[in-house]
Amino acid sequence: MAFDFDMIQRVYAGFGERVEAARQVVGRPLTLSEKILYAHLTAGTPTQAFERGKTYVDFAPDRVAMQDATAQMALLQFMQAGRATVAVPSTVHCDHLIQAEVGADQDLDVAKNKNREVYDFLSSVSNKYGIGFWKPGAGIIHQVVLENYAFPGGMMIGTDSHTPNAGGLGMIAIGVGGADACDVMAGLPWELKMPKLIGVKLTGKLSGWAAPKDVILRVAGILTVKGGTGCIVEYFGEGAESMSATGKATICNMGAEIGATTSIFAYDESMANYLRATNRADIADAANAVRQHLRSDDEVYTDSAQYFDQLIEINLSELEPHINGPYTPDLAWPLSNFAKAVKENGWPEKLDVGLIGSCTNSSYEDLTRSASIAAQATEKNLKTKSEFTVTPGSELVRFTAERDGLLQTFEGIGGVVLANACGPCIGQWARHIDDPNRKNSIITSFNRNFAKRNDGLASTHAFVASPEIVTAFAIAGSLTFNPMTDKLVNENGEEVMLDEPQGIEQPPRGYDVEDAGYQAPAEDGSQVQVKVSPTSDRLQLLDAFPAWEGTDLKGLKLLIKAKGKCTTDHISMAGPWLKYRGHLDNISNNMLIGAVNYYNDKTNTVKNQLTGEYGEVPAVQRAYKAAGIGSVVVGDENYGEGSSREHAAMEPRHLGVRAILVRSFARIHETNLKKQGMLALTFVNPADYDKVQEDDNIEILGLTEFAPGKPLTVVLHHVDGTVDEFPVNHTYNQGQIEWFKAGSALNLIKMRVNA
Ligand code: F3S
Repeated sequence: MAFDFDMIQRVYAGFGERVEAARQVVGRPLTLSEKILYAHLTAGTPTQAFERGKTYVDFAPDRVAMQDATAQMALLQFMQAGRATVAVPSTVHCDHLIQAEVGADQDLDVAKNKNREVYDFLSSVSNKYGIGFWKPGAGIIHQVVLENYAFPGGMMIGTDSHTPNAGGLGMIAIGVGGADACDVMAGLPWELKMPKLIGVKLTGKLSGWAAPKDVILRVAGILTVKGGTGCIVEYFGEGAESMSATGKATICNMGAEIGATTSIFAYDESMANYLRATNRADIADAANAVRQHLRSDDEVYTDSAQYFDQLIEINLSELEPHINGPYTPDLAWPLSNFAKAVKENGWPEKLDVGLIGSCTNSSYEDLTRSASIAAQATEKNLKTKSEFTVTPGSELVRFTAERDGLLQTFEGIGGVVLANACGPCIGQWARHIDDPNRKNSIITSFNRNFAKRNDGLASTHAFVASPEIVTAFAIAGSLTFNPMTDKLVNENGEEVMLDEPQGIEQPPRGYDVEDAGYQAPAEDGSQVQVKVSPTSDRLQLLDAFPAWEGTDLKGLKLLIKAKGKCTTDHISMAGPWLKYRGHLDNISNNMLIGAVNYYNDKTNTVKNQLTGEYGEVPAVQRAYKAAGIGSVVVGDENYGEGSSREHAAMEPRHLGVRAILVRSFARIHETNLKKQGMLALTFVNPADYDKVQEDDNIEILGLTEFAPGKPLTVVLHHVDGTVDEFPVNHTYNQGQIEWFKAGSALNLIKMRVNA
């Protein structure tokens, strides 16, 4: 599972020089985030300053990590690039497809059977292209990355929103869509708007029941779910240094809940300790040698307000444990106010289930602190009133926790140990509940608590807290319990109190594991066959999209004129469709089914111009495709907002849509369309949207002179014989025009690889 030490040494070798060059061009001391960003420019040594929150910058991340759900399309696309191996070290982690129902072993067996074809594909494609493969049961992507791959000063992208977890080891780690992962693996630059910076100064020291989780629960309360958008949150101060690296990772993980691009802590002793404990002493030594670059410049710490766009200060010595929820992670309640809030809001006081672990909170320290509470239940003869589950984040943690008796302690109070996988954290939970409509409460040490997130039930009120608070609540069986002040009555009828949790940062006997679940790729993968069954309905190898035919586009039909909001969810719905995300043809049956047809205000009902009848959008488009006729989708403002889901661009391309013509685009979707070889066009005059009629025959002219900044022309031939003609804008640069001509960005890479 060897981390790539050579790569890390290369990063550190040029780090100081790049940071100094950045300091010169920026003209002031730098924060840690800026140092890492400027040290990872595709262009190499910085020669210009970039405006935070404004300028788009090309970066060269050191690593890519993918979870099994999003990896499928990322890797199917990567195969189109024609490369022998990935351009940067990459890993795949099988964690999202395992459903929790009975317990670790049985659930894992069921998942292996059910998802065999997906796992076989991911395993074989990883083997072929030099990608590290973590088998089902090996652990959750972010915990495995923290244990094996994260390093101070590094930059990675991951196809999961909680990728920032690696900020606990001083890495800039950012969650992206599969298309971005594919680009970086294929050797393309990765573009990001230079983030703004939020500084969080931590003074004092945590004690008693307060845990690192409470820091981020408090920050979420301050900043709300949108407060971090477009920003990196940088934590510093004596309080930061007093926390373990895994505690820092918890805080960074949940930065996703405030919309932050990522979160990060500076390199310190806690990180060195964690690196050494996880068998990476050489990285700790290498990081020590460039230590001064792995923290902000001194001026940033002494005059912080000047260097951050926003500054927050939290005194850890005064921080109370928090419970956040329900339905949103930014509804933050200090423990002392929570019981009152529960009563006033009529939330169910009885606690049905307490769930600890997950990618957010399953470190050795978390488990020891929670086990110290669980052990008291046994010692003090308390009966656990709620169901209680434990999700270890990795096999390394699970094996070590079992060896040290922690799991047995949890089982001793009725705890069920689940597989090392996402499980209930992502809704993969076959929950046993008497009545799914009964209003009920659960509390987790996970990160998200939106309605239905954990168990799919709208009746569930989900709250988020530290694992030690969750454990205490599960024992009490009540949401109105305050372990800092309240007594419980034990089986002998005596009143007892729970003592403060006690944790151990690193296992005194070291970490241990028998089989971590890692499969190294073949040294030479050229002969490895990628396994995809031609009859599979979940996976399908991709065919290259055809190159541009070299002429203007004529005889196009209007597929749909979408009215109002049209997000990536309207274009490519999630939910039940997710199981087809590795099968482009099958998932294309959801194309634009959520978009509202301007002409009848209905969804998924458009006119088939060949028959005059109304049909479902994908079916009508398939009819055009079968007849060899291209089509155009017309949309309103901010078309494609929402997510970076590449399917929303691939599906229309696959089904033969030639252009998306809108009043304005959400930028990521616009770029995704360009990458897939589609025409992404905007009305020069937004009122021209009104000229588009249901039976139009459409031409797009000017493509033979397609050039940056030069508008194209759209001609609408209306059914009554009249014609409208108007200019349309585009934002293609020369490189993107080459993508269009080649049929897609990956086609172009392939042409260059083969040249
Ligand atoms: Fe996501 Fe899995 Fe964590 S679902 S939040 S990575 S446990």
